[in-house]
Amino acid sequence: MVSKIAVIGANGKVATQLVQKLANLKTEFETIAFIRDSSQGSKFDQLGIKYSTKIDIIESNLEKIANTLKGFDAVVFSAGAGGKGLDKTFAVDLDGAVKVSEAVKLAKVKRFLLVSALKSQDREFWWNTPLRSYFIAKKYADEIISRDEDLNWTILQPGHLKDENDTGKIEDPLRVNSIANKISKENHDISIPRSDVAQAIIESLRNESTIKKFIPLIRGEIDIKEAIGKI
Ligand SMILES: NC(=O)c1ccc[n+]([C@@H]2O[C@H](COP(=O)([O-])OP(=O)(O)OC[C@H]3O[C@@H](n4cnc5c(N)ncnc54)[C@H](OP(=O)(O)O)[C@@H]3O)[C@@H](O)[C@H]2O)c1
Repeated sequence: MVSKIAVIGANGKVATQLVQKLANLKTEFETIAFIRDSSQGSKFDQLGIKYSTKIDIIESNLEKIANTLKGFDAVVFSAGAGGKGLDKTFAVDLDGAVKVSEAVKLAKVKRFLLVSALKSQDREFWWNTPLRSYFIAKKYADEIISRDEDLNWTILQPGHLKDENDTGKIEDPLRVNSIANKISKENHDISIPRSDVAQAIIESLRNESTIKKFIPLIRGEIDIKEAIGKI
């Protein structure tokens, strides 16, 4: 059966990779790309993916988002303020993610997948960095969403995102946080190509054992399907 997927923040770099991959899986997924501006629509037209401008995470209220999401099987939230100031970071990365998760429940959508950030939960990791406010937004969005017992959430937490070709591989998600703890000492690479994150989202959509799980993501040597499949 085809799963109907809403991708929010679809014009973003991870989500563009995701939508491109989903466009090749039309027997498995029917995708609607939620974007802010119809001038961004031509790339989705070219992929044969429908797009909608009905959801602006800041401007749209809960009821409007819920009404728009009715009938979907899963919602992927890959939006982010992209460093455009504290107000937008809190309105999109924190309140926006939580508001959409509330809308997912109201609309009775079965699954909600959020793209967050590596080690959002670990203050020591980010407190003394220029990204502190951003990580505060990510941490509390992740906490609120993951404590929601009525929501089938999956939170993907990639490391530094790179615009590189996909490798098809990631580190074992069960090992990632301990590896990330050692980065300063042992110079581990905690980056990942955006395209590999997109593939990990697809494998998470395919795999219900990822429900109510955090999935930290950095580059590695394990096939993405296998790594996500054993979660
Ligand atoms: N950069 C990193 O190294 C890194 C690491 C870990 C996690 N992350 C997180 O991973 C996620 C995806 O990253 P990315 O690089 O793909 O992000 P991106 O390219 O900056 O895309 C973010 C998308 O969010 C959309 N957006 C912003 N405000 C919105 C609003 N009010 N309503 C609807 N959509 C809105 C933007 O729309 P427009 O295109 O219209 O502006 C954009 O398409 C983000 O949450 C980011 O914080 C990033």
